[in-house]
Amino acid sequence: MPESLFEGWRARVDAALSSALPDPATPPSRLHAAMRHAVLLGGKRMRPLLVHASGHLSGAEAGTLDAPAMAVELVHAYSLVHDDLPCMDDDALRRGQPTVHVAFDDATAVLAGDALQALAFEVLAHAPVDAATRVELLRTLASASGVSGMCGGQALDLDATGNGHVISLEALKRLHAMKTGALIRAAVRMGALCGHADVATLETLDRFARALGLAFQVRDDILDIEGDSRTLGKTAGKDEAQAKATFPALIGMAASRCLLSDLAATMDDALSPFGEAGAPLAALGRLAIERDR
Ligand code: IPE
Ligand code: IPE
Ligand code: MG
Ligand code: MG
Ligand code: MG
Repeated sequence: MPESLFEGWRARVDAALSSALPDPATPPSRLHAAMRHAVLLGGKRMRPLLVHASGHLSGAEAGTLDAPAMAVELVHAYSLVHDDLPCMDDDALRRGQPTVHVAFDDATAVLAGDALQALAFEVLAHAPVDAATRVELLRTLASASGVSGMCGGQALDLDATGNGHVISLEALKRLHAMKTGALIRAAVRMGALCGHADVATLETLDRFARALGLAFQVRDDILDIEGDSRTLGKTAGKDEAQAKATFPALIGMAASRCLLSDLAATMDDALSPFGEAGAPLAALGRLAIERDR
């Protein structure tokens, strides 16, 4: 059941993103084309799927979920464009395509990222929900994107990069929770907010989302070592080459896999009160851990 559900949700968010992104036939054409390149050419759409799955569990109307699903993917896509820049991870391949700064140029990639982030909040400001929910959606995505979320985590990642930098296990968990976990938690929370979930449900879902967020980046670290660039759609083996702080580097591959099993158990436990309504979220949790791209 979930895979056909996911296909429908993916098609829905892809169509909405394509119509929200600016037309490359109108100026500034190069910027518009770069934004479309960053968003529309591939990507698993994990965060939009989480918005829909969490909204499904909470009884949200599907029509209210398009705006938060698009908004979180737009912030995620912007984070990837900037992550790939020469001044950050310096990557040439993303989603099976040349990265934005390679296909266009560095300045265009910086601007495309900036504009994608702005578009995310513009889209969210038009979400067809009551005003109080809309403000809470905006606050949720803003706080997950900024210093206490993705940007802060990226700064910690850069601080921890390079031989000679030591980091504790607790600090690495915090880094991963911020750079990757925050947007994943925001996706789950936004879906539930659209269904007017109560505080207890939001907290239970957040327990699931914290485990998923960390698991997603631990799996990313493992795939950088075990995956191949063709399947991943990005260059494998870069973390070790750049001496990144990753779970396999810090605790080894076996312990990283054990951590993934522990996180899978936490996810299952968190979703157990929801029964069948939690099946799509549970399937996404498994996908995060078992994925090969
Ligand atoms: C890659 O995210 C960067 C991380 C936060 C680990 P995804 O693995 O979700 O990348 P796409 O969206 O499928 O390209
Ligand atoms: C990036 O983590 C997380 C972001 C906030 C973009 P990585 O640097 O490990 O992501 P990949 O491996 O390049 O996709
Ligand atoms: Mg990075
Ligand atoms: Mg990177
Ligand atoms: Mg990585």
